[in-house]
Amino acid sequence: MNDPIIVATNVTKTFTEPVEFNVLNDISLTVNRGEFVVLVGPSGSGKTTLMYALSTLDTDYDGKISIDGVDIRSLDRDSLADFRNSMIGFVFQFHYLLPDFTVLQNVMLPAQRRGLLTSEEMEERAMKTLSMLGVADQATKRSSKLSGGQQQRVAIARALINEPKIIFGDEPTGNLDTKNTSLVLDILNELKTEFHQTILMVTHDVQFARRADRIISIRDGRIVPNDEHYSPSQD
Ligand SMILES: Nc1ncnc2c1ncn2[C@@H]1O[C@H](COP(=O)(O)OP(=O)(O)OP(=O)(O)O)[C@@H](O)[C@H]1O
Ligand SMILES: [Mg+2]
Repeated sequence: MNDPIIVATNVTKTFTEPVEFNVLNDISLTVNRGEFVVLVGPSGSGKTTLMYALSTLDTDYDGKISIDGVDIRSLDRDSLADFRNSMIGFVFQFHYLLPDFTVLQNVMLPAQRRGLLTSEEMEERAMKTLSMLGVADQATKRSSKLSGGQQQRVAIARALINEPKIIFGDEPTGNLDTKNTSLVLDILNELKTEFHQTILMVTHDVQFARRADRIISIRDGRIVPNDEHYSPSQD
């Protein structure tokens, strides 16, 4: 059954510097609750820009984006930050863990920002999430001491700590080898099947795209109709 959680309607964005440039062109799309969607397209086609808008980090566009029935631009700054902290988890290619903080501290940060749990509750939840991702034994290490694959798993744990309804990723496996890419994919699939998490990811990775429920292609800031898909293998 279709149950939309992300609805973008006629989203258009223009950069004016250095020259006027239409980076997003009348984008309309819907992602359903529990769906695993990947966004593909050539370099410079507008994927990251679109992800910033869809994930509420950027609200400077024409058109409308609703998440879970809420028009993102109807929220003031504080409500938007609360909404984002409670609804959305982010996993990026360069995971931006704080290198001098321990793994546990890194994972607890978004929960601290949200401020709903006691320290004990946060720690318990963080440890549970780290264990699900197979890195609980690394909890007290500084994050800079971990391997790339381990760091990426910690970044996923951090994205999950507030139990977000939607996980956004921009090339989350971009700097990982095949083995760690498979691992991250398995984890994302598990989140989808076991927790009905909605996942929207940008990827160039064919292996990744193949495991999604649906592929949305974008080219020159427009959605490519279904019958003429951009194939990631053309990269
Ligand atoms: N702040 C900005 N000002 C002006 N132009 C920008 C800005 N940010 C991005 N662009 C331009 O918008 C276009 C789309 O950029 P975007 O980062 O969304 O592409 P992408 O599809 O994510 O590419 P890649 O696969 O290389 O990450 C590019 O041509 C880029 O140069
Ligand atoms: Mg990008």
